Amino acid sequence: MSQPIEILSDRAALTQKAVEIVLAAYSHAIAANGRFTFVAAGGNTPRLLYEELANQPLDWSKIHIFWGDERYVPASDPQSNLGMTRPALLDRVAIPPENIHPMPTEAGDPKLDAQNYENHLRKFFGLGDQPLTFPQFDLVLLGLGDDGHTASLFPHTAALAVSDRLITVGQKDGQPRLTFTASLINQAQKIVFLVEGKAKSEAVAKILASTGDVQTYPARLIQGNVIWLLDQAASQHLQTIG
Ligand code: 6PG
Repeated sequence: MSQPIEILSDRAALTQKAVEIVLAAYSHAIAANGRFTFVAAGGNTPRLLYEELANQPLDWSKIHIFWGDERYVPASDPQSNLGMTRPALLDRVAIPPENIHPMPTEAGDPKLDAQNYENHLRKFFGLGDQPLTFPQFDLVLLGLGDDGHTASLFPHTAALAVSDRLITVGQKDGQPRLTFTASLINQAQKIVFLVEGKAKSEAVAKILASTGDVQTYPARLIQGNVIWLLDQAASQHLQTIG
C-alpha cells in the first residue's frame, strides 16, 4: 500500500514535522473556508504535538476541534481522550467553548451517544439526514496501536464493517469506545498518522505492505490523502515490507 512516509530522527523532529503539516492545513482551510476543522487523536503520542500547537500563533476562534475516537468514560476519567487534550492544549488557548466538539459519553448507552455525535456532525456540516453523505474534515490526526488499530477500529471487530455511518461503537477488550468509521476518516482533506516507537514498527510494516488483511490490521482501511509521520524506531521494519 503506497502512502507517503516521512521518517524523522526522534520525537522532537516528529512533533515539529507534525506541527508544520497542521499549520499548513490550517492556513489552507482558513483561506478556503474561513475555518479549520481538526480531528484529534487519543492516546499518548499526540500529547507533545498538542502542547506545541498551544504555542503557535493560531486564530483559535476559527478552529473547531473534534475527536476521532473516545473511550466510553466521563471526561474526568484518566482514560478520557478529551481529558488528555485539555491540559495539553484546550486549557492553554483562547478557543471558544462552542468550537470544542467532544464525543458524548454520558448517555449510559454507547450506541445512543454514537448517534448523538453523528447527529451533531451532520448538523455542524449542514448535511441533514441524507444517507451516505460524509463531511470532509480538514485534517484527521491518527495514532496507531501496536496491534494495527487506529482510532477505535480494533482488529476483528464489527466496527470495521460499518461503512454507512459517520460514527460507530468500537470495542477494545470489551470496553466500548466511540469512533469515526473508516468511511468518514477517508473523506478527510488530509489524514496524518503520527507514530513513534519500536513497539509499532511491525504493525507499520504490515499496514504499509503491498498486501495484507484489514481485519488483522485495521489501519489498512485508511486510504485517501494520507501521510505517515514516523520516528526512526517505528520505521525499522519498513525496509522488509513486501
Ligand atoms: C485511543 C486512540 C488510539 C491511539 C493508539 C496509539 O483512544 O487510544 O485514539 O487509536 O491513537 O492506541 O496510542 P498511543 O499514542 O498511546 O501509543
